[in-house]
Amino acid sequence: MKADLVINNGKIVSPDGVIEASIAIKDGKVLAVGAASAMPPATETFDATGLHILPGAIDDHVHFRDPGYPHKEDWESGTAAAAVGGVTCVFDMPNTIPPTANGEILAAKHAIAASKAHIDYGLYGLLGDNTIATVPELIDGGIIGFKLYMGNTFGKIPSPDTGATLECFEVAAATGKRVSLHAENNDIMERRQKRLMAAGKRDQWAHLAARPNVVAVEAVSRAAILAEWTGARIHVLHISTAEELRPLREAKARGVDITGETCPHYLMLSTDDYARVPGIIAVNPPVREKQNQEPIWGALIDGSIDVIATDHAPHAREEKTRNDIWTVDCGFPGVETQMPLMLTAVNEGRMSISDYVRMSAVNPARIWGLYPRKGALLPGSDADIAIVDLAREHVIHDAETQSRSKVSPWDGRKVRGLPIHTLVRGRFVMKDRKLVGAKGWGRSVHAIQAMPEPKVLNAEHSMQSITRASA
Ligand code: DOR
Ligand code: ZN
Repeated sequence: MKADLVINNGKIVSPDGVIEASIAIKDGKVLAVGAASAMPPATETFDATGLHILPGAIDDHVHFRDPGYPHKEDWESGTAAAAVGGVTCVFDMPNTIPPTANGEILAAKHAIAASKAHIDYGLYGLLGDNTIATVPELIDGGIIGFKLYMGNTFGKIPSPDTGATLECFEVAAATGKRVSLHAENNDIMERRQKRLMAAGKRDQWAHLAARPNVVAVEAVSRAAILAEWTGARIHVLHISTAEELRPLREAKARGVDITGETCPHYLMLSTDDYARVPGIIAVNPPVREKQNQEPIWGALIDGSIDVIATDHAPHAREEKTRNDIWTVDCGFPGVETQMPLMLTAVNEGRMSISDYVRMSAVNPARIWGLYPRKGALLPGSDADIAIVDLAREHVIHDAETQSRSKVSPWDGRKVRGLPIHTLVRGRFVMKDRKLVGAKGWGRSVHAIQAMPEPKVLNAEHSMQSITRASA
């Protein structure tokens, strides 16, 4: 059999180690991995001498703003940023306009994404009090999972109260899909923000004061209990505090299907950076005091935190640099800088490159039901590949990035380790650091998703069974 492409002389990284090998690709899939002499003949060969070959990163947390906020980002600019960042698959959040809350809106987003994406993607459906009824049409329309906002953030999606959250989990449990959680306690934040505003506090520190660590640990603890009761699968987004690790680990030990992620900004930035980039660094949950960093690193490396993602949240400069913190849009871009930042940590000896592949590709593929089609470079896997130069030094300049948002706290940061080429299903989307190929190559991954069978618990107490019984 003739391969379409054979990549020679690279170092192929898996969660188990690094091997010097060639990789053959045919029809968008990995055909073989092994010695160069064992490779089939190929239409094209590519020399990866000195480079590492990784499964492309799967970023399960991005905001591409389309439809709704074209000045911040759209599917074309967002997926271009991903491609240049070595990211081959993203999951897009539902806080667009309109929010991804029913089948019709979801279908419209699918059409936009299919026409503009450079890389593969999944779409989240919004789960909240108002979408319990639309869950079946969201499932039919093709989602990767649900997003539930326990706390308010950009987009002002109403947070369900505890009663509604329980009902949301009951309904989600029966679908088997995972629910990603913005786990911050809304009542505490609302009350504190009101008080702080009345007291005239409006700087970066006031934002942190409105969202102290307890806001996160309370929400994670509550969500873990509701997931344990219902059997819902949950994913704690953007872990930012040391305190959240205890309920996360305890729930895992009890067998709750709970997973977690953190983002580079919680590992590498702290309140020490507030004075340097006020407003620009504003994000929910906030970048916190330095003492949170080491416990989060530890949890990432010991596997308590499963995933490194970005919460890529682009905004315009004007929206990030207002004097009053309560009017600043929270979040900043990250999908393009995650891999260089984390490879820098690999170079610093924080973790191995195999650890990095586990948290950036293998684990997200596993927990979202895409493994080994995605997240692996095994025969039969999609040939989604990041080819990186671990020795390459680079300075992040926001002005040079693909994202439409040219403002982040990473501007001027030195990194060591850079994706040089990216392939999605065997096709180059970045070559020699340049975006290549036409938009519209990306495909939704919902159709290849295979989650384990749902495990519904306490079904006899669910709202659905009670109302059915009394009907
Ligand atoms: O800072 C944030 N920005 N946190 C979120 O949860 C949402 C995001 C956004 O959409 O801008
Ligand atoms: Zn987010």
